[in-house]
Order: sequence, then structure tokens, then C-alpha cells
Amino acid sequence: MSKNVMLLTGAGQIGMAIARRMGYGMKIMVGDKNLANAEAISETMKNSGFDTEAVEMDLSSRESIVGMIRKGQQYGEIKMLINAAGMSPSQASVEAILKVDLYGSAVLMEEAGKVIAEGGSGIQISSQSGFRMPALTPEQDRALAMTPAEELLSLDFLQPENIKDTLHAYQLSKRANEKRVMYEAVRWGERGARINDIAPGIIVTPLAIDEFNGIRGEFYKNMFAKCPAGRPGTADEMANIAELLMSERGAFITGSTFLADGGATASYYYGSLQPEKQ
Ligand SMILES: NC(=O)c1ccc[n+]([C@@H]2O[C@H](COP(=O)([O-])OP(=O)(O)OC[C@H]3O[C@@H](n4cnc5c(N)ncnc54)[C@H](O)[C@@H]3O)[C@@H](O)[C@H]2O)c1
Repeated sequence: MSKNVMLLTGAGQIGMAIARRMGYGMKIMVGDKNLANAEAISETMKNSGFDTEAVEMDLSSRESIVGMIRKGQQYGEIKMLINAAGMSPSQASVEAILKVDLYGSAVLMEEAGKVIAEGGSGIQISSQSGFRMPALTPEQDRALAMTPAEELLSLDFLQPENIKDTLHAYQLSKRANEKRVMYEAVRWGERGARINDIAPGIIVTPLAIDEFNGIRGEFYKNMFAKCPAGRPGTADEMANIAELLMSERGAFITGSTFLADGGATASYYYGSLQPEKQ
């Protein structure tokens, strides 16, 4: 019997929370570069009644992305996509962050957009980090949105000599996610499908805990202590937003990025988190 298929890339806490909220009754392909992560999340979900299958996949490889999509299609039509794979500034080099978070996300949206079912929906996870960087030029924004994926990493302003550090690479990648979601929303719309983006603030997950223990640990702890919410967020709060965006209630929403950061970005620009007040 054919089932609706959900592709989850990035077997982390944010991805799992969204998959649990939306994936009932579906075949859920759980992809991760680290197969042990995919198996652990798949197993946890299986033990809660979900129909999951762990897949080893690398977001930085088109071949690997297409391989996962083909595996999913063996069970039915691809109805939902959740891209929650990524590497944070403390976890990887400039090149690796650009290859996974920027290039890989663009390829996944493109490949999933070729097969997404009518009425389907997708979620990209970007980050509040994309909101911290000064505005790019309109030409740069357009290049991030529309450059063919295979040429993205050749863009002048993405060359290592033009990137300050891994945080800058992460910010650029997450800004690119927002722009790419707008571009892809047009293409997905031609198939009667929608795609949106959630830009989380600090959400307690293994990735965030790596950041708390990394060189920018104090910066992050200060950020959630002083943001209007006064605490970090949870993966389930990201699932609350995904539920609106992915369900019929979000039928008029596509190509949008939702910042969900407890007000940290608001405070960074206009409150006690302004850099000059630190
Ligand atoms: N946790 C936060 O505070 C926070 C804040 C803003 C944005 N985000 C974003 O949310 C997403 C999910 O993060 P999380 O906090 O759930 O992290 P997590 O560490 O729990 O999960 C991320 C997963 O991505 C996988 N991954 C890394 N590189 C990959 C690759 N090349 N191919 C396939 N899988 C790969 C990792 O193995 C890991 O299982 C990331 O894109 C991250 O940048 C997280």
C-alpha cells in the first residue's frame, strides 16, 4: 500500500520534534550523515508509533540527496520535507559550513521540488544568525536566491578570503536559506506545493550545547538570559510553528521565514543585547 512520504534530513532534536508533530500516518525517511543519529531518532520515533526508516545521507552531496529521495519514493509520493540538517560555527570549518548549510540546502530544496506532491509542504531550518548580519546588496541577495546550485560556491563574496570566520559563513548560509526558500516557493508553487523557513533562536539541542561549551559560550548564555523571553527555546516550540506552516491552516503562507528567537534579535538591534551595550 502506498503511503505519503516525509523526508527528514538532519536527525536532531528540531527535526524530530517537527516530524513527530506532522508525520503521523506517513512513511518517514530519517536521513543523517551520521547513521547512528538517524538510527537513534528513527528508533525513538518507531517506539512512539511512527513508521520510520533510517538512511545514511550527506546533505553536501547531490547524489546522496537524490538517493534518499529515490528510497522514499519506493513507498509513495513525497508529501513533506523537513531540512533540519546543519553544522554550527563551533562544529565545522568555513568551507564545510558553506557546503552543507548553504549549498546542500539549496540542492535539497531543488531536488525535492522536482518531485513534491500536489498539496505538499516543506520546511527549511535557518537561524536567527541570518538576521544578525548587515544587509547584503540587492545583487548579492538575488545571487543567493537564484544562482544555479552548482555555481553557488563560486560566487565572489562566498570565497574564503571574503569570509571572516565560521560565524560569518554560518550567517551567510542562513541568509541564503531565506532567499532560496523564496525562490523555491515559486517553483514549488507550480506543483501546488509550499515551502517555508523557520529561523530559530537558541534552542536547547546537542548542537546548541556544543555552542554553550564552545569559544562563544558566554555570548550565547548572555543572549538567552537577556532576551525578552529570558530563556532558550525548545524544539517543540519550533514544531508549533511548523504545524501551522505545513498544515492546511498555513495554505496562504509560502516563501516566508519565521523568526522564533524569544526576541533576541529585537533586543540585539533595539534593546540590551545591542553590541555597544555589552
Ligand atoms: N539549536 C539551536 O540553537 C539552533 C538555532 C538556530 C538554528 N539551528 C539550526 O537547526 C538545524 C538543526 O539543528 P539542531 O539544533 O537540531 O542540531 P542537532 O545537532 O541536534 O542536529 C543536526 C543534525 O544534522 C546532521 N548533519 C550535519 N551535517 C550533515 C550533513 N552533511 N548531512 C546530513 N546530516 C548532517 C548532524 O549529524 C545532526 O544529527 C541546523 O540547521 C541548525 O543550524 C539550531
